[in-house]
Amino acid sequence: ANERESMYLVSEFAKDHFSQMLWESELGKAIGMTYFKERGFTDETIKKFDLGYCLDQWDGFTTAALDKGYKLQYLQKTGLTIVKEDANNPNSPKKFDRFKGRVMFPIHSMSGRVLGFGGRILTNDKKAAKYVNSPESDIYHKSKVLYGIYFAKQAIAKEDNCYLVEGYTDVIQLYQRGIHNVVASSGTALTSEQIRLIDRLTKNITVLFDGDAAGLRASLRGIDLILEQGMNVKVCTFPEGEDPDSFAKNNDLEDIVEYLNGNSKDFIQFKASLLVKEAANDPIKRADTVRDIVHSIAKIPDRIKKEIYIQECAQIMNISEAVLFNTLAQISKKDF
Ligand code: CTP
Ligand code: MN
Ligand code: MN
Ligand code: MN
Ligand code: MN
Repeated sequence: ANERESMYLVSEFAKDHFSQMLWESELGKAIGMTYFKERGFTDETIKKFDLGYCLDQWDGFTTAALDKGYKLQYLQKTGLTIVKEDANNPNSPKKFDRFKGRVMFPIHSMSGRVLGFGGRILTNDKKAAKYVNSPESDIYHKSKVLYGIYFAKQAIAKEDNCYLVEGYTDVIQLYQRGIHNVVASSGTALTSEQIRLIDRLTKNITVLFDGDAAGLRASLRGIDLILEQGMNVKVCTFPEGEDPDSFAKNNDLEDIVEYLNGNSKDFIQFKASLLVKEAANDPIKRADTVRDIVHSIAKIPDRIKKEIYIQECAQIMNISEAVLFNTLAQISKKDF
């Protein structure tokens, strides 16, 4: 427990250090702050989300932390510092800042503790990873956290709905516009632990997809997990090339709310329509899509909801309810 406490403390120091560099250092102001301003973030937003900047030096942060008395051991365990053995110099291994030259997004727990970081590169260099994240550690389990949950939790309960987006900047931009009930899975497939965090606050999730469609099919499978947990799921897509961040940046609150309300579709209906379109005139594909959609419906714990969805999908897919009910019975037998 003491080890973890030390890791929390060094993470808190890192958050403050990166924030200080952003607000006070010449390079931080010129590079990091300029970047955030170009993205449209206000001072208030940058402070709210504890955004920061890690100077483009090999070990500027690590040296500052060691000078303050933080132990290398915990800098290493949190992944803030990378230690490399030096063959020529076996007694003094080299230390590097993991987030060198990146703008920093601290990741907060439900109660507001800093667990880890995402760091974004400022260039469009295709060779370097756009985002670097803290590694798994005793305090940071990426499958158990949702970016933004600390700032969103009250609004999620109040609105009785949670918007789920892909990325850090999607959360921040929507929040700045006035949509506060928003969290991000940070690019990974949603896990049941993450869903449970939301489940404590609301039974309603609206998944907002990037308009690049690439991950759409894969994400649809992940959504079955949300259904399985008895939550109501809606989905909303954005115009080609847009994500919630860019959309929110270019529209005012009223237009965003109107878009979200007008384009959020019940997940099962959305999936059924999508599958129908894809399989249009191919009978074999159509059979597959019937099984696919029934698989999703089978995940819903509530029997009455199941039945209603079968009826709706029968209409959307132009197939008899009896066939769908039979398929459901077969799948249920196999799965349980
Ligand atoms: N992500 C990551 N590592 C990457 C790419 C993405 O961890 N190399 C995660 C980040 O949490 C990111 C999310 O996946 O926020 C969504 O990815 P993407 O849509 O590519 O990034 P954006 O958030 O849109 O980033 P930006 O607008 O800054 O380009
Ligand atoms: Mn643990
Ligand atoms: Mn994306
Ligand atoms: Mn995106
Ligand atoms: Mn983006």
